[in-house]
Amino acid sequence: MNFNMSENLSIKTIDKNNKSILVDWSDGFKSKYNFLWLRDNCPSEVHPTARERTFNLLDVSEDIHPKNYSLNSEGNLEIEWSEGGHKSVYEKDWLRHNCYSIKHSREYVSPYRIWDKSMQDRFTDIQIDYSEIISSDDGLKKWLQQLHFFGISIVKNAPTDVNSGFDILKNISHTRETFFKTPFEVIDIPNPNNSAYTAAGLRNHIDLPYYEIAPGYQFLHCLINNATGGESVAVDGFKVIDYLKNNHPNDYDVLLNTSVKFVNRDYTTNTIRVMHKPIITLDHNNDYNDIRFSVAYMGVMDCHPDQMDHFYSAYRKLLSLLHDQRFEINFRMQAGDIFSFNNRRVLHGRKEYDANSGERHLQGYYMDRDEILGRLNYIENLNP
Ligand SMILES: [Fe+2]
Repeated sequence: MNFNMSENLSIKTIDKNNKSILVDWSDGFKSKYNFLWLRDNCPSEVHPTARERTFNLLDVSEDIHPKNYSLNSEGNLEIEWSEGGHKSVYEKDWLRHNCYSIKHSREYVSPYRIWDKSMQDRFTDIQIDYSEIISSDDGLKKWLQQLHFFGISIVKNAPTDVNSGFDILKNISHTRETFFKTPFEVIDIPNPNNSAYTAAGLRNHIDLPYYEIAPGYQFLHCLINNATGGESVAVDGFKVIDYLKNNHPNDYDVLLNTSVKFVNRDYTTNTIRVMHKPIITLDHNNDYNDIRFSVAYMGVMDCHPDQMDHFYSAYRKLLSLLHDQRFEINFRMQAGDIFSFNNRRVLHGRKEYDANSGERHLQGYYMDRDEILGRLNYIENLNP
């Protein structure tokens, strides 16, 4: 909800019961605010620059209640508390924005616009020109919105200088460092520590599933692509698990409730990274949060023997759907493209290419989801 949406609303009447202040709004909505919640969120006890709560909840008892309460001349709520001689003033817009009665009376609406192969016919929805992003906050907002809503955006006509990806990414925030370094170089090299650094085809996957939190976003910046082959593939993992949930609910449940093991044995850093997580996870709204999927890094499965066949059946179903043409979009990366995507939602793959036919060089960057969403919240003036 936008903080400014409630600007024209006013409070018609206030009342109280033994636990809460009751507010009747000019648009007919009714809100309930519990006393402890109100006292805990008194705006006077927030540090002015750090914007952190300074109030100690244990300084008041659970029986705290208003001694007096009223609407002031600006239509805001004032409360004089029964303890500590403290007075609080709550702006009506703030009360409305943070109203948990209204929020919990409405059905959750997902921000994610899930897509299948039909996205191939509306590529303009997920494309943006480099110059638009660099020249205005509106351009940056559009890019961040494509990333947040669709999980994918292809930036066109970016410069192709080495490391120039930093120039645009710094408009969002800092990158996420990994042992592949930043940027990582996607080229054909001898003795690779990752199959991306070969000319082989890559099945659809997310990167770094063996981390506790795999990078939220990935940016593949194409500097040159003259080689034959190497077309890119993208699949909206949220769309695929949504299809699985609706059409194969038992398989969906198995993948939601079974931890699998992801393993990376990187010979260049002398490390063995192991992570146990389910392939599908949900967020606090029961919306899709993650799809964690990479055949290359799947460890040896070790669930209960009674569950093993169920797991393999569900895993095979998902594996086949994630490579089903009904869900895939295909495109060829051109020099100056930055293929940007939610790495824990959109799976990416690549067809084999002929390393002798020409040059192919991508530079990759990672960024956490927090940075994308935090910047978008700020630009949209959202106050979650
Ligand atoms: Fe990858």
